[in-house]
Order: sequence, then C-alpha cells, then structure tokens
Amino acid sequence: MNVFKDIQSVRDQVASWKQAGLSIAFVPTMGNLHAGHLQLVAQAKQKADRVVVSIFVNPMQFNEVDDFSAYPRTFEGDVELLKEVSADALFAPSNDELYPTEQDLTTKVIVPGLSDVLEGEYRPGHFTGVATVVCKLFNIVQPDISCFGEKDFQQLMLIRRMVAELNSPVQIEAIATQREIDGLAMSSRNNRLDNQQREKAPQVFQVLTEIADLLKTGNKDYLALEQNATATLDSRGFKAEYVAIRRSSDLAMPSIEDRHLVVLVAARLGDIRLIDNISLSLNSD
Ligand code: PAJ
Repeated sequence: MNVFKDIQSVRDQVASWKQAGLSIAFVPTMGNLHAGHLQLVAQAKQKADRVVVSIFVNPMQFNEVDDFSAYPRTFEGDVELLKEVSADALFAPSNDELYPTEQDLTTKVIVPGLSDVLEGEYRPGHFTGVATVVCKLFNIVQPDISCFGEKDFQQLMLIRRMVAELNSPVQIEAIATQREIDGLAMSSRNNRLDNQQREKAPQVFQVLTEIADLLKTGNKDYLALEQNATATLDSRGFKAEYVAIRRSSDLAMPSIEDRHLVVLVAARLGDIRLIDNISLSLNSD
C-alpha cells in the first residue's frame, strides 16, 4: 500500500489507475481505525478496482478545540490495519497541505438547513467543516464512488445532498453501522470511555431499539416517545442532547402517514459524546 502525503502524488497515482481503465473507490476517515472503518474499506473493495483511504483529522469540523486535541491519533497502527484489509493507497496530508490558507479565509461549502438541525444545532459549524473537507478530498482523489457509514446518518445525508447540488460525479454508497456484540456502535471515541461508562454505553442502542419496536407496533406519539427516551437516558447517568424521530428521506418531522423513519440520538457520558441511529420502515396497513 502506497502512503501519499501530498496532493500531487495521490493525483498522479489515481490518474495512472484511471488510464489503465480501473475504477476508484474512496473512503475518507479521521483515522484511529476500527472494524467499522475497515468494513467501509472491505465494501469499497467489492465496488471498485482500487481503494483509496484518507486519514485527516479535520480541524474545521471540530467546534470544540479540546475535542480536536483529544481526538485519538494512531497513524502507525492504522497503516498496519489498512495493509491487512488490502487498501491500495492511503492519503494522509498535513494540515498545511490541505489548508494552505487560514481557515477563516478559506472557501467553504455550506449545505443550508440540514447543517443546522440535530448534530448541527449542538455542533455549530461542524457540517460546514465536513462538507468543505469532503469536497476538497473529492476534488483531489476524484473517485468514481465513495463510501460513508450510516452511523453518521446526518453526515451521509449531507454528503448526498452536496454531491447532488454541486453536480459532483461521485456515487455515494451507504454502509451499515458496525456494532460491538452488546450493540454499542463502533466509534473512535469509545476508546475514551472508562470501564463504568463502557458498561453503560450500549443503553443508547437499547433505547433506540425500544423506540423502533414501539413505532412498529403503531405508536405514533412521537413527542412522548422522544421525551420518555430522553428521561430514561438522563436517569441512567447520560446527558441526552436529543432523541429525535424523523423522516428518513430528509430528517423532517414525520407526519403520522410517514412510513420511512429514523430515530437519532446524541448523548454524553461524562465528556464523551455518543451518537447512534436506527432506520425503520413500517408496513403499510
Ligand atoms: P470518521 O469518524 O473517521 O468516520 C469515517 C467513516 O467511517 C464515516 O463514513 C463514518 O460514518 C464511518 N463509520 C464510523 N463508525 C462506523 C461504524 N461503527 N459503522 C460503520 N461506519 C462507521 O466521519 C468522519 O470520519 C469525518 O467526518 C469525515 C467524513 C472523514 C470528514 O472529515
């Protein structure tokens, strides 16, 4: 696996693969790779001839400086894992390579509406940082397809909308959330949970599953379901930021006729922020 630090060299590599008629899949990450990321790479390998992975902890998407500095960086181990799953190339630029201009003065990609709700409400500026860096990475790597995890449901939706509205030729593929045996969604932030927090953490997915089950049995009292779940999480030592039942097509508030729903949750355990979601389709009656 070739490791590229500069933009020109990864471009040259991709150009030569394309000249040979090979298709390119791209998996953007912030490193500290776990089985969820590796699943994205495995799926990408099935969908294209060559897979390029990027590792870049993008300062523009962190709304808290502490979160950015605490973000785990495990580059050597990540390279080994990527070799094991036979990624073809890794692009790992420095901050100066990707942002030669001061952040405040750099061009940004804003996806209105979607960027301001749920995650966007609690993390102002986050999605502009995500859309901007993904747009830059797409322009550098120029992949045919790119894989994103459903774990970050709102991010996936944001990228789909950005690609559609900017007429980007990249095809976006969604990959199912990978979970630990107890249901906890895999995340780079899980490493920071202490033993007691780690024991509690799967309750986020349990709460989501309970709401999904109630929705499936015909419960339409969305507000009460959200409020009860928030109270349950808070009573168990979490600080729930939101529990939200939304229409899965656009994250709008669902009407009682809507059948394709997603339940999203963000909750803090100490200073660690966990997010998860579950999608469901109700049978028409
Ligand atoms: P990061 O959190 O490293 O995640 C990289 C990709 O892995 C994202 O598409 C994310 O949804 C996916 N992923 C994370 N945990 C997963 C899990 N348990 N199961 C399945 N997929 C999972 O998301 C980002 O980085 C950044 O915002 C990025 C898109 C790279 C832009 O900086």
